[in-house]
Amino acid sequence: MFSKETYTARRKKLAESLSGGLILLPGNEEAPMNYTDNTYHFRQDSTFLYYFGINQASLAGVIDADSGEAMLFGDDYSVEMIVWTGVVPKISSLGEGIGVTNVKSFSSLQTVVSEAISSGRAIHFLNPYRSDILIRLAELLQCNYQAIPEKASLELARVVIAQREIKSSEEIAEIDKAVDITVEMHLAGMRYARPGMRESEVAAKVAEVALAANGNASFPIIATINGQTLHNHYHGNIIKSGDLFLLDAGAETETSYAGDLSSTFPVDPTFTSIQKEIYQLCLDAHMAAVAMLKPGTAFKEVHLTACRTIFEGLKAFGLTKGDTHEAVEAGAHALFFPCGTGHMMGLDIHDMENLGEQWVGYDGVPKSTQFGLKSLRLAKELRPGYVLTIEPGIYFIPDLMDLWKSEKHMEQFLNYTEIEKFRNFGGLRNEEDFLITEEGARRLGKALPLTIEGVEGVRSQ
Ligand code: GLY
Ligand code: MN
Repeated sequence: MFSKETYTARRKKLAESLSGGLILLPGNEEAPMNYTDNTYHFRQDSTFLYYFGINQASLAGVIDADSGEAMLFGDDYSVEMIVWTGVVPKISSLGEGIGVTNVKSFSSLQTVVSEAISSGRAIHFLNPYRSDILIRLAELLQCNYQAIPEKASLELARVVIAQREIKSSEEIAEIDKAVDITVEMHLAGMRYARPGMRESEVAAKVAEVALAANGNASFPIIATINGQTLHNHYHGNIIKSGDLFLLDAGAETETSYAGDLSSTFPVDPTFTSIQKEIYQLCLDAHMAAVAMLKPGTAFKEVHLTACRTIFEGLKAFGLTKGDTHEAVEAGAHALFFPCGTGHMMGLDIHDMENLGEQWVGYDGVPKSTQFGLKSLRLAKELRPGYVLTIEPGIYFIPDLMDLWKSEKHMEQFLNYTEIEKFRNFGGLRNEEDFLITEEGARRLGKALPLTIEGVEGVRSQ
């Protein structure tokens, strides 16, 4: 947790930035896995954490945007509960730690909201992503739950985005820490993987590092020999000689800040020669994207640069042809790179994605509907204080190849006979995290080896 002054200043800025009314920020509840008392690892709502900082279930925060006053709602644990949970600080002491003296029982939240509604005040809340919070909001606002998304406050979402997207120095220190742990997770996996192991053994080795650092994984670990499946969470395959292994994993620190890195390495001590060539091309796209990071550059251009590098580079293998600019504009590169070059990162690995990509990544400009480009989560101009990932990849996805080939899709740019030879290649990407600075960009955390020699060096340790 940060100091109470940090949370007080954040809430003050939020209240001042809104036109008025009551800001309602529910914290998350415990989420049952298979019965009520067997819960998933608790994850607090990130916006609640940002303004109220308390990593505990069943709380809500209210900020009066007219008076600037903040209120914390929650109930002290009974001794019967403490028997199971251990001692939990009183709500008044939790409030004190974040500079909130006005603490109330959870049930009094209804009175505060109802009074505000009857006096005609606006109630600002964010569109919920959990159904229990949706139902709670519907009850508080006395409306049908289906009406909640349209009643959610775009004004609040935009103000929260404007505040959270610029990371403060104390947040950056936490993210640096998260990325350092993430680097150790990757090194552990890279050193450990051997032919004959199951993917799950590598995933476990990687997870161990995050847990040992008193945090957690920031998202479900991807540890796979099928890197062409973008979010592949299956860990049941046996790793064999000749495979490429893709690891995409990150740490979440005790303070809930995230790291998110990807690495691709050969299961053998060295890459095969074709793996080397495709890997180098992916790394070239990565470096071309990194070189563009500076304030004022639109991230869409960073992405398109990575796309063009990949499309142009695949010509050497006979897979692509024609004018690279035209091909990328038409979306032909998306056969090999059907997703985006990066995303914001902070308290969430895809930071604030619950507030709407159109605002987080596009400043309200509608997203492209083109296959590939529509999966770009960040397109807007970069500003100092942004934290984002760079993660272009090259993927050979058999189902996508078959579909496009059967439709003769963009045959003027794609040579399906040659592409077919890569059917079993798999997929690869590297990923690093960056802070946009006044001058350009700084990689966050320690360096993870990216070059062919660097990766092979770790594999032979
Ligand atoms: N690391 C997973 C993702 O960025 O979606
Ligand atoms: Mn990522």
